[in-house]
Amino acid sequence: FASIDDLELPAAFDAHVHLRDGEMSQLVTLTIRQGGVNQVYVMPNLVPPVTTVQQCLEYRDRLKAIEPNVEYFMSLYLHESVTPDVIREAKKAGITGVKSYPAGVTTNSSSGVVDYKTFYPVFAEMEKQNMILNLHGEVPSTPPHAHSSNTNGSNAITILNAEPAFLPTLKTLHTLFPNLRIILEHCSTAAALEAVRACGRAVVGTITAHHLSLIIDDWAGDPFCFCKPVAKTPEDRDALLQAVVSSNGRFFLGTDSAPHDSRKKRGEDKIAAGVFTQPNAVGLVLDALEKGVERGVIQEASVTTQVLEGFLGGWGRRFYGIEDGKAEKVVLKKQQGQIADVLKKDGIGVEVVPFRRGEKTWSVTW
Ligand code: NCD
Ligand code: DOR
Ligand code: ZN
Ligand code: ZN
Repeated sequence: FASIDDLELPAAFDAHVHLRDGEMSQLVTLTIRQGGVNQVYVMPNLVPPVTTVQQCLEYRDRLKAIEPNVEYFMSLYLHESVTPDVIREAKKAGITGVKSYPAGVTTNSSSGVVDYKTFYPVFAEMEKQNMILNLHGEVPSTPPHAHSSNTNGSNAITILNAEPAFLPTLKTLHTLFPNLRIILEHCSTAAALEAVRACGRAVVGTITAHHLSLIIDDWAGDPFCFCKPVAKTPEDRDALLQAVVSSNGRFFLGTDSAPHDSRKKRGEDKIAAGVFTQPNAVGLVLDALEKGVERGVIQEASVTTQVLEGFLGGWGRRFYGIEDGKAEKVVLKKQQGQIADVLKKDGIGVEVVPFRRGEKTWSVTW
């Protein structure tokens, strides 16, 4: 693999994208194919969140109008207004799944879930309707002022243990709803991978491109590497790389590409969480795998065509039960692609800085 300069692969399925709305969506939706991707699963955390079937279908139409050569699979935002009736209606309308955000953990999650129990009837209906539950697997941080009143400081939740602390909830949901297809999104720790593996085949995980290369030190001080869940230790990152090559369909790509206007990243106010990888999605994965081979974390021989095709598309499509009707291929060339310094366009009032801006990656030709 490290000695390969050219690859031909099926176009990828990106199982977790933030395409936003309005001007930002005009900018980023047109970069999906640049990244080697022709099908995406779209996150619903707009402002306000996408909580009704009608909003969801209208959102899909707006995305299609921007870029008709991508297939959009849609999700609803889990919210108290999403009832079992809404689930039945969503299924009929062709909506694929429901994303759950714990309240307050990340961008636009203020109307998220406070108590999962409230939603058990919804999960039961989703299980019946064979819809997918996408979990943002973090628990909210303990408010800073509460730490000192906690006699056992180790119970405090921070962005470093927010994901491990969520894993018992994954287990509970899987035990209660064993046939409900659940995706633990953007796994960022070895513990998360283990928790997924410990469940039955109804549970899988997505892995982003950036969590395959980043560690804590990368985002400490660099807003363009800051996302939720935050990148963790080198051991966690290496466990993610190993999970790609030993996935057997259990883990696949969901980039969690999350564009924010550069002013929200560099501004004087709180920094928005999200790493923007869409224009280079496949290339960034290949680069991370190659670095993993160089470091001796994964064996060159383990990065087979089957692994690449599976992780980048086949396994995700299989779990989602979707077909790549067009069966398009892309040709990738190592070091022949240039990551932009910034993504912007005349007449559009926002701009986004891509992950690894200014560097080389794989080029993509359709
Ligand atoms: C969220 C925000 O400010 O939108 N925080 C963040 O990390 N970006 C908080 C929220 O929406 O609950
Ligand atoms: O870093 C993140 N950004 N994580 C999320 O879960 C949401 C996303 C966003 O929407 O910006
Ligand atoms: Zn998420
Ligand atoms: Zn996300």
